[in-house]
Amino acid sequence: MKIFKNNGHAVVWGDAIDALTNYVPDSSVDLIFADPPYNIGKNFNGRSDRWPSDEDYLAWCYQWLELCIQKLKPHGSFYVMTATQNMPYFDIFLRARLTILSRIVWAYDSSGVQARKYFGSLYEPILFCVKDKEHYIFNAEDVMVEARTGATRKLIDYRKSTPTVYNSKKVPGNVWQFPRVRYRMEEYEKHPTQKPTTLLERVVLASSNPGDVVLDPFSGTFTTSAVARSLGRESVGIEIEEEYMKIGLRRLGIRESYNGKRLRREPKIYEQQDVDLFSVR
Ligand SMILES: C[S@@+](CC[C@H](N)C(=O)[O-])C[C@H]1O[C@@H](n2cnc3c(N)ncnc32)[C@H](O)[C@@H]1O
Repeated sequence: MKIFKNNGHAVVWGDAIDALTNYVPDSSVDLIFADPPYNIGKNFNGRSDRWPSDEDYLAWCYQWLELCIQKLKPHGSFYVMTATQNMPYFDIFLRARLTILSRIVWAYDSSGVQARKYFGSLYEPILFCVKDKEHYIFNAEDVMVEARTGATRKLIDYRKSTPTVYNSKKVPGNVWQFPRVRYRMEEYEKHPTQKPTTLLERVVLASSNPGDVVLDPFSGTFTTSAVARSLGRESVGIEIEEEYMKIGLRRLGIRESYNGKRLRREPKIYEQQDVDLFSVR
């Protein structure tokens, strides 16, 4: 395990269970967002996302889930993702230990593979749990969205003594529509399952305050840490793959170079062409 730190942000290069056990103090974290490998055969820079059996996968998950609970402060919040087919097991495990406040569906516009003989999967589930259901952070005002009424004009409440426009802002429901990260998006990094900053912004704004500590045990492209930083929180991000860990060093401004090489986002194909065109002019 190797730790890189700067200005309240730590990038931990190593195994999640090792780092949680040996680096993160108990009861020290305000918010955890965990987006682990799903056991569905993705390729994380050559690292397999496939366990020998479902039982093996779940046994591994139960270890880090338990550790995450241990690391949360008493008022802490825990958001966790996994594949739809694994989520019922996570749900049963977690509801014996925490209070599950929301079962969120992150719905998106298109899947990686377009199914032709069944209904393709267009969502991923997220559990939102807290340690103490009487005392937890929820900044409703910071995550309000426009209520969809179907009406083009503002709805007027005529039951009041003076007719008043209905409040059109509301706390989002548990179906979240955010586009997946696409190649042409500014935030895109070379990673198969990068989560959108918009999704993490909602989580971090709702469930932490400025100065709080946000932890992500499977950081990938370090979306969670980058959002935490942009919103004035502190962060701890753990990632086992060196290539992805380097993304964290760059996104968090911890290092400008690594092993003698400048850290920079890989240019996109069209950016490369732009550079070539420019150089021949
Ligand atoms: C689903 S991705 C996380 C994506 C991330 N939320 C993002 O926005 O980029 C899971 C990550 O866990 C990493 N990983 C796999 N096994 C790990 C382990 N034992 N400890 C720490 N990280 C691990 C993978 O390399 C991968 O980057």
